[in-house]
Amino acid sequence: MTNWTPTSWHAFPIKQQPHYDSPEQLEAIKTYLKKMPPLVFAGEVRRLKTLLADVADGKAFLLQGGDCAESFAEFSANNIRDSFRVLLQMAVVLTYSLGTPVVKVARMAGQFAKPRSDDMETKDGQSLPVYRGDMVNAMGFSPLERTPDPERMVQVYNQSAATLNLMRAFAQGGYADLHKVHGWNLDFVAQSAQSEQYQRVADRIADCLRFMKACGLTAETSPQIRETEVFVSHEALLLDYEEAFARVDSTSGDWYDTSAHMVWIGDRTRQLDGAHVEFMRGIQNPIGIKCGPTTKPEELLKIIETINPTNEKGRIVLIARMGAEKVAEFLPPLLRAVKKSGYSVVWSCDPMHGNTMKAANGYKTRDFNNILAEIKGFFAAHKAEGTHAGGVHFEMTGQDVTECIGGAQNITVDDLSSRYHTHCDPRLNAAQALEVAFLVGQGV
Ligand code: PEP
Ligand code: CO
Repeated sequence: MTNWTPTSWHAFPIKQQPHYDSPEQLEAIKTYLKKMPPLVFAGEVRRLKTLLADVADGKAFLLQGGDCAESFAEFSANNIRDSFRVLLQMAVVLTYSLGTPVVKVARMAGQFAKPRSDDMETKDGQSLPVYRGDMVNAMGFSPLERTPDPERMVQVYNQSAATLNLMRAFAQGGYADLHKVHGWNLDFVAQSAQSEQYQRVADRIADCLRFMKACGLTAETSPQIRETEVFVSHEALLLDYEEAFARVDSTSGDWYDTSAHMVWIGDRTRQLDGAHVEFMRGIQNPIGIKCGPTTKPEELLKIIETINPTNEKGRIVLIARMGAEKVAEFLPPLLRAVKKSGYSVVWSCDPMHGNTMKAANGYKTRDFNNILAEIKGFFAAHKAEGTHAGGVHFEMTGQDVTECIGGAQNITVDDLSSRYHTHCDPRLNAAQALEVAFLVGQGV
């Protein structure tokens, strides 16, 4: 790798970063974080890459999902458990209906920095820096709350460590045991149509487990029944934070970003000559690249070439986020160009970010029908081009929020105000997330 260091990105143009008043304080915090233990181990990252290589080969399916933005205020064991649980439920539904392994990657334990359309926000004649996620500043509209504070990176690290710790405990400590599949039903989902459908899948799984037990395959003999693997991911937006977690793996001598197993580059920071692409090319993690309607095929190929010049399988995940109305026009040229280039990639569908709209009452929302329409368009485009639709990427929560309209619960614009808790974009609630999993499993 030529001329790459964890700090080489500083020499490149960069977007979407906060301005810190005290560079000395920023440096002190980074020095502190550089001494902190990594959140993930390089061996786990390599394991994820192997699983993603299976996805690229069409032998597995990728499910990525979680909060748009994690927050300090919503941090609790119950929230972590509920998000984890809905991800497991979706994975079970998808594994069962697709008949392939599902690679689970949570948007958790580090998803705290947000790209924004404007640098400043103006209210009643006062202009303040925009909210950029709890890693940077606070949501409240006052000069103090909106001033970027590097100390927040330490809180992000601590919260991520605690979140990841609980997730690992759930994954390996018995909570994710397939025998518990009935018990994962969330109370409020238990009243819904998806719940009945889910119970039927759970019943069939219980039957399979009984049969397998008779054949000698039990939770004791087969860890796959008793445990699961869940990886974590976030948008590597705030490069000062990511730099602090760039570490050399002693077994391979390679650099890894140990803040998460997988990181991605957002649609607003994927410039070929920009700092984010520069940083990502030096770390060996799987890298997501968001592809929007303005992504040009030649440009995308150059970004892939820069980040993954050896064409390592499982390293690049292209996350298309076109919008329901644009997917049929803008996705096929990208699919064709990548196929022709011979680059191995995972193609995933983010049906959230191209479908954000403002409801008449001012709430930012997404319509369940548009989300479905984009997924349909994604699968149709892959079918037509002979490429593999490898996965899906959602903003969702285990809570019973009212942020996206539609779905079987038929949430209306008037319902939005009742439980609208997101710190940034509208998320699918647990019932909507499960519903979408069933629909994807059935071929939409
Ligand atoms: C996101 O995934 O939260 C996000 C901001 O997406 P995008 O970069 O695709 O807009
Ligand atoms: Co978002």
